[in-house]
Amino acid sequence: MPRGLFITFEGLDGSGKTTQIKKLAAWMQKRGLSPVVTRQPGGTATGDRIRALLLDSGSAPVAPMAEMALMFADRAQAIAEVIEPALETGKIVLCDRFTDSTEAYQGGGRGLGPELVLALHRIVCGDLQPDLTLLLLPSLERSLERARRRNERQIEQQGPDENRFEQEQEAFFRRVWQAYRALAAREPDRVVLIEGNLTFDEVHEQVVEAVAERLTGLHAAV
Ligand code: TYD
Repeated sequence: MPRGLFITFEGLDGSGKTTQIKKLAAWMQKRGLSPVVTRQPGGTATGDRIRALLLDSGSAPVAPMAEMALMFADRAQAIAEVIEPALETGKIVLCDRFTDSTEAYQGGGRGLGPELVLALHRIVCGDLQPDLTLLLLPSLERSLERARRRNERQIEQQGPDENRFEQEQEAFFRRVWQAYRALAAREPDRVVLIEGNLTFDEVHEQVVEAVAERLTGLHAAV
């Protein structure tokens, strides 16, 4: 059976990627495709436990190396349990965040650097690469503003839980943003950078355009 298609979404907190994934999944379903939608961290029973540990602002402090290792533990589980089985049976996988997030957040934000992240990816994830990555990256100012607003809203609605990353300072998000730009420049064939201050529908159009290109030639039984 021909292999499926692995599509990941990336961006800063509040970049709107989760809503874009839902809209893309609906677009695919209308065309008779049934994508598998998942997210990281999380998406498996083990991953959800790792996610709780990682994102709960009430957790004890997590050292940057431990944080990175947990992200990869979560990812290894998701690859084994969800992503590989789906790709092997010709399905399309839409994944909210993947190793680019680790390169941006732990490599850039926490300052661990890209080499370590890429080396771990080779060892732990067998160097599995997405066929396409949609990176939603408005200007730095707009990204910071959105991350801040989202943070305030979440604290209001849910209290401080699931908020450990959003509580980071602007300098942290600036480093994340820069790391994202650097990896997009390094891998222009895989990473489609959707930048500029676009409306939700404009972003969706660009997403569909990039995906449609990759779908042509996919003879998978999806
Ligand atoms: P989530 O609530 O899923 O945020 P978003 O909707 O913005 O994706 O939380 C995921 C958080 O975890 C987000 O702040 C980014 C962070 N993260 C890392 O730091 N490294 C990683 O490898 C991954 C996958 C996520």
